[in-house]
Amino acid sequence: MEFKKLLVTGGAGFIGGHFVKLALKKHPNLEIINLDLLTYAGNLENLSELKEHKRHKFVKGNILDRSLVSELLAQGCDGVVNFAAESHVDRSITGPDAFIQTNIVGTQKLLEASRKASVKRFLQISTDEVYGTLGDTGEFSEETPLAPNSPYSASKASADLICRAYHHTYNMDVVVTRCSNNYGPNQFPEKLIPLMINNARAEKSLPVYGDGLNVRDWIYVEDHCQGVLDVLMKGKSGEVYNIGSDNEWPNIEIVKKLLNLLDKPQSLITFVKDRPGHDRRYAIDSSKIKRELGWKPSYDFETGLKKTVQWYLENDKWLSGVLDGSYMEYYQKQYSN
Ligand code: NAD
Ligand code: DAU
Repeated sequence: MEFKKLLVTGGAGFIGGHFVKLALKKHPNLEIINLDLLTYAGNLENLSELKEHKRHKFVKGNILDRSLVSELLAQGCDGVVNFAAESHVDRSITGPDAFIQTNIVGTQKLLEASRKASVKRFLQISTDEVYGTLGDTGEFSEETPLAPNSPYSASKASADLICRAYHHTYNMDVVVTRCSNNYGPNQFPEKLIPLMINNARAEKSLPVYGDGLNVRDWIYVEDHCQGVLDVLMKGKSGEVYNIGSDNEWPNIEIVKKLLNLLDKPQSLITFVKDRPGHDRRYAIDSSKIKRELGWKPSYDFETGLKKTVQWYLENDKWLSGVLDGSYMEYYQKQYSN
């Protein structure tokens, strides 16, 4: 399937930003309208290389704004990729409301506007967290029942179910991707890897939740984005595709690796109170996307992690700008009506 113009939402965030850059590079005729609310997690510095790009148009706005979304779709969009979300589990525990609004209601509003606009395909970016948690063995497949445990994952699972309903009821072309933990440049420093890099550099303690033995399955962000492109262009309508790198690590091992790469002492590690309802282990079976669409990850963990650490070391200004909120303030003002 080919697209002339995509509406990408959340494209000023971590993964959405990488996706927009990759899609424009790989598809020389593709145009993108990038709709993003510029919350604390959205940052136009992530897209600085696209400032003068003729095929990229940024619009500051909310996916909950149905008339804005319809107006943008009417500008010739034939596909929608929905990255926009509240994405951080800890924030969903302290304040779930925004997760329900953006992740559930926002997705439904986008689906409805897309249906009315008769777009060719709607791609929902979901997560492996919708499957819940695993014991010491096994992996999530696309058939694993949904069993989300946090307000974040419950909101993402709800959105997946609404996508499913739009496909079945209205025969709309909807596809869903469920990826594991991403890492790479431009990730907001509230997530494990950039938070630990940032603290280690400042020689502040590294807060490891619980016993540090929770396991996550890490994928380099560009590998995820390539998987999303493959599903968008070649995936089968109504299907779900898992995306992962077969790269499981207990959190404590990741933190130790980062300290080694940064040449900082292991004594900075501090075990702190566990996250409430903390999922123990995620592991994802991505054989379907490999088998059916020919996707495979291209980064090994050592290379990806080194590249990520290097990026943070070279991008002090980006880090301080997101941490003190100055980018957010600047871009919010630039785009205020
Ligand atoms: P992020 O928090 O870095 O970015 C989210 C973006 O969405 C931000 O730019 C924000 O401004 C924007 N946004 C938030 N609410 C909005 C709204 N109401 N209207 C328009 N824009 C809004 O998130 P991320 O880590 O890049 O995740 C992107 C997507 O991928 C999310 O849907 C997330 O659930 C999913 N996902 C993330 C991971 C991961 O490891 N980070 C893994 C699998 C899936
Ligand atoms: O699995 C995909 C999901 O991965 C995405 O859907 C989410 O959007 C994304 O935020 C991520 O969720 P996690 O909760 O797994 O990521 P986080 O980086 O917050 O935490 C990773 C692990 O590290 C988790 O077991 C909690 C632990 N942790 C996290 C932080 C921030 C710590 O031990 N200390 C910390 O300070």
